[in-house]
Amino acid sequence: MSLQIGVPRETFPGEKRVATVPEVVEKLKKLGFGVLVESGAGEAANCGDDAYRAAGAEVVPDAATLWSRADIVFKVRAPSADEVARVREGQTLVSFIWPAQNPELMQQLAARKATVLAIDCLPRQLSRAQKMDALTSMAGISGYRAVIEAANAFGRFFSGQITAAGKVPPAKVFIAGAGVAGLAAIGTAANLGAIVRANDTRAEVADQVKSLGGEFVKVDYEEEGSGGGGYAKVMSEGFQKAQREMYAQQAKDADIIITTALIPGKPAPKLITAEMVQSMKPGSVIVDMAGEQGGNCELTVPGEAVVRHGVTIVGYTDLASRLAKQSSTLYATNLFRLTEELCKTKDGVIDVNMEDDAIRGLTVIKDGAVTWPAPPPKLPAAPPPAAKPAVPPPAPKGHGHGAGEPMSAGALATVFGIGALAFWFVGAHAPAAFLGHFTVFVLACFVGYMVIWNVTPSLHTPLMSVTNAISSIIVIGALVQIAPPESGGGRPDEVIRWVAIVGIALTSINMFGGFAVTRRMLAMFRK
Ligand code: NAI
Repeated sequence: MSLQIGVPRETFPGEKRVATVPEVVEKLKKLGFGVLVESGAGEAANCGDDAYRAAGAEVVPDAATLWSRADIVFKVRAPSADEVARVREGQTLVSFIWPAQNPELMQQLAARKATVLAIDCLPRQLSRAQKMDALTSMAGISGYRAVIEAANAFGRFFSGQITAAGKVPPAKVFIAGAGVAGLAAIGTAANLGAIVRANDTRAEVADQVKSLGGEFVKVDYEEEGSGGGGYAKVMSEGFQKAQREMYAQQAKDADIIITTALIPGKPAPKLITAEMVQSMKPGSVIVDMAGEQGGNCELTVPGEAVVRHGVTIVGYTDLASRLAKQSSTLYATNLFRLTEELCKTKDGVIDVNMEDDAIRGLTVIKDGAVTWPAPPPKLPAAPPPAAKPAVPPPAPKGHGHGAGEPMSAGALATVFGIGALAFWFVGAHAPAAFLGHFTVFVLACFVGYMVIWNVTPSLHTPLMSVTNAISSIIVIGALVQIAPPESGGGRPDEVIRWVAIVGIALTSINMFGGFAVTRRMLAMFRK
């Protein structure tokens, strides 16, 4: 018999998300499940009851009916006390739980003898788990929304503009913490035209910051900030002091600060002090995304936007919920992917397989027994560093030698010897006029080869477009043909003239187009 998946209306005050959307209901049905949705569950996320019905779900009038009929319940926020009281023995609950922060909730749920899958406990480091990673999808949306909230509270443009009414400098945005949310914020702010700087204790994110259009600002203190699993650790006193000094400078300079710094299982690090807030320009904005974990800024009021020392400090804890349709759709897809993993047989029945690393990590309570925390997943062992070969491998045939890998003197002498012989042979047999052209051709090949060989491979594409433009030198040939012959009198042959005119037109496109494309390409490499 196929199981019923139930989706109740979220009861947390102000929560607009819903755990499934009509598009995903259809997919769940294809896996063999029945879907029950509490009336009005998707209203705040623009998913009406009719849309759910049209997708094949049964809309039930209230929470009591839903919880009593559903075998599996999908939720967004951790269940409230009332919801825990509705959990039945043998029922499966899939939701955000945060077991480390909610030990009492864990005890209450265990007492109901249910099975609980905490979506926040997914072992994210497993590549197979990425499609189910709701933390990442929610953090990406929150990072985007943080920038939009900042833009809303900020009294200026993000991008610099020169208008008839005066020059507007671009906004300077500083992002503290470049994890998933921070990177989304960097990308969004850079796209809006702001100057973006970012800092993180994990040095490995510097390249990601750059690739999204930001500048990585380093703390002047050597310490590795990675605490394992891609997460941060609490830094030493010395590092924190140096970081505070750097942040104090950034605070004075920035118009907007967005903080996203978190350390798993620990209160959020306090990075922005009251003095830093005071040193900011009036009208500046801070969006503190760590509000729920205590905040990265000393003056944040979680859940509210307040003004302190002329600076608006936004501490909203519902950033993902503010984009309810988007976040519900991504969350629903994450849960659908999880359902696929739980129901490989596609017959509407789930198997909570504790041998599977991803499922094991998620399962925090199995049939009433607390199974959290899960042992770390077995990751494929890192490949051992490749042993250095004693002798350099021979260059692959037909590809010449690699850059910076000099030919042996003997090989060089052979190549030149063969070249000289070939040249002698051509000189001895070809007409005299040919030899002149041939010499220029050989020299051109040599110079071209040397020039291209010394250009960094990443610049080869702009190089190709500029050489394309330069090849338009043939326009000179056409110009010569279009002009009347020097030795007086007579007009050039009409056919040749028209060929020359067409030639000039085509080469001009090649020339101007080539230079324009090169310019645009090179601009991508400039800061
Ligand atoms: P998070 O929300 O726990 O932390 C946000 C950021 O704050 C992190 O980048 C952290 O390094 C930074 N941070 C912590 N303390 C700080 C301090 N004192 N100063 C400045 N920055 C500080 O992390 P999130 O965004 O959930 O994930 C962090 C990383 O985990 C990702 O960037 C990614 O590399 C990794 N990850 C890996 C996955 C995988 O292996 N498949 C999946 C998801 C995330």
